[in-house]
Amino acid sequence: MRIVHTVADLRQALAGARHPAVVPTMGNLHAGHLALVRAAKPLGDTTVATIFVNRLQFGAGEDFERYPRTLERDCAQLEAAGCDLVFAPSELELYPQVQSFTVQPDPALADLLEGQFRPGFFTGVCTVVLKLLACTQARTAVFGKKDYQQLLVIRHMVRQFALPVDVIGLDTQRETDGLAMSSRNGYLSPAQRAQAGLLARVLAACAQAVRGGETDFAKLENQALHSLRAAGWMPDYVAIRCQSDLRPAQADVPLVVLGAARLGSTRLIDNLEI
Ligand code: PAJ
Repeated sequence: MRIVHTVADLRQALAGARHPAVVPTMGNLHAGHLALVRAAKPLGDTTVATIFVNRLQFGAGEDFERYPRTLERDCAQLEAAGCDLVFAPSELELYPQVQSFTVQPDPALADLLEGQFRPGFFTGVCTVVLKLLACTQARTAVFGKKDYQQLLVIRHMVRQFALPVDVIGLDTQRETDGLAMSSRNGYLSPAQRAQAGLLARVLAACAQAVRGGETDFAKLENQALHSLRAAGWMPDYVAIRCQSDLRPAQADVPLVVLGAARLGSTRLIDNLEI
């Protein structure tokens, strides 16, 4: 496995590649990320992981500064997972000038849910993902359904700009208590970790009720919010939406239940397709 830090070295390392399959990440890798790498492997001739903590997608007061940077450990895990090439640019390499051209995603998709609570987040994500796809010459890119809205926004961007990339979405990898794996789980104290599975459980209860025929979605969302608050969480939202575009839920189309909540100072998100 090769590790490169500059776009020039990346281009050189990819010179013989016909079909790079790329997994963009911000590092501090866990089994969820590694599942994406394993899934990418048979989809191209060169498996590329990118590691870059993207300042553009962090808001003021968010965890950009303290986001864990664990490059050596990440690379060891990537190598064991069969990755061929790691692109880990510095900030100066990826943003040598202020990034004044940015991608503005459709507000109808990007200004709700995560976008409502993290203004500008999806502009930051789209801008860096477009750039990483360009740098890596990706033909396939693999993302996790853990970040469901992010996956939809990226699919939309790739379609609208006619990028020559197949976007693949992979199921969320979970701990044994149901907690979705996340780099941010490392922020949790042991006591918080012990109750962190609750978010997945309240979403599962919503999904179960909808499958059982319940159509009062607002009632289910409120019950979920109440359960989280009663356990000391500070939820931003629990929302039952259409899978295709995150519009409010309707009868007879595939639905997804999404939630975001803070436990202490750690903000966790999760979702379940229904
Ligand atoms: P990051 O949070 O590092 O996640 C990188 C990829 O791993 C994303 O596609 C995410 O959905 C996926 N992922 C995270 N946890 C997962 C889990 N438990 N199961 C399956 N997949 C999981 O998402 C980002 O980075 C950034 O926004 C990025 C796309 C790299 C742009 O900066």
